[in-house]
Amino acid sequence: MTAVVVNNLSYRYQKGGKQILKDLNFTVEQGQIVAVLGLSGCGKSTLCLCLGGIIPHYLGGEMTGRVLINGQDTADCKIARLALEVGIVFQDADTQLFSPTVEDEIAFAPENLCLPPEQIRQRVDAVIEMVGIKHLRYENTNDLSGGQKHLVAMAAVLALDPPILVLDEVLAQLDAAVKKSVTEILLELRRRGKTIIIVEHDLEALIIADRVLLLEDGLLANDGSSSLLQDKELLARHKFL
Ligand SMILES: Nc1ncnc2c1ncn2[C@@H]1O[C@H](COP(=O)(O)OP(=O)(O)OP(=O)(O)O)[C@@H](O)[C@H]1O
Ligand SMILES: [Mg+2]
Repeated sequence: MTAVVVNNLSYRYQKGGKQILKDLNFTVEQGQIVAVLGLSGCGKSTLCLCLGGIIPHYLGGEMTGRVLINGQDTADCKIARLALEVGIVFQDADTQLFSPTVEDEIAFAPENLCLPPEQIRQRVDAVIEMVGIKHLRYENTNDLSGGQKHLVAMAAVLALDPPILVLDEVLAQLDAAVKKSVTEILLELRRRGKTIIIVEHDLEALIIADRVLLLEDGLLANDGSSSLLQDKELLARHKFL
């Protein structure tokens, strides 16, 4: 099954302004881990916003083309509905966390779904266990380190159990041991059939990808297997080495 279809997607934040995404076309099959690689400013986070429907729903600008998430056009689908399909862990975790404690943060989305309290507790327990943040459960989210905030944001997203997960430069901000455990979690999620899109600068973090999309100044410069990461000449050409 095709989880994501991006069809002739172009975007400008302001009408008549700089074109940020340039006629992107790609699909992602369910159960794939796809890495999106590109230099700073090439449009990776903008693409994430399009996948989650924040563009065009919350940010105006000028979007042309279509993004289909499990067959639904993001432009025609309510954000609340899309949030059940695509969970995004944003590059800046501070914009994502707003509850007083870690536990509240993770319970927030399941509470909004009006799940019975016992089910909410089970989901919170399960993701806290999975992400390995038991020790942070009752901490104030403001007191966490940058990496811990990303883990909590990821747990909060997983509490909704979305079939598609988008991580915007999360791995690069974690220390080596935590990065390894998050990588294991992502592999386990893939085994469970989740579709995962990882946006990164950090080449090393992408070895688990089934496929790598290379974005260059808003254009899809390459769409290939993860063996692309071994292609030193190509990486040098795109200024990754
Ligand atoms: N809200 C906004 N309004 C106008 N321009 C924006 C906005 N957000 C991003 N941009 C511009 O869009 C371009 C792409 O930004 P984007 O954040 O998508 O890049 P990125 O690949 O995620 O970069 P990084 O690796 O640094 O996170 C940049 O030129 C940026 O300045
Ligand atoms: Mg970004």
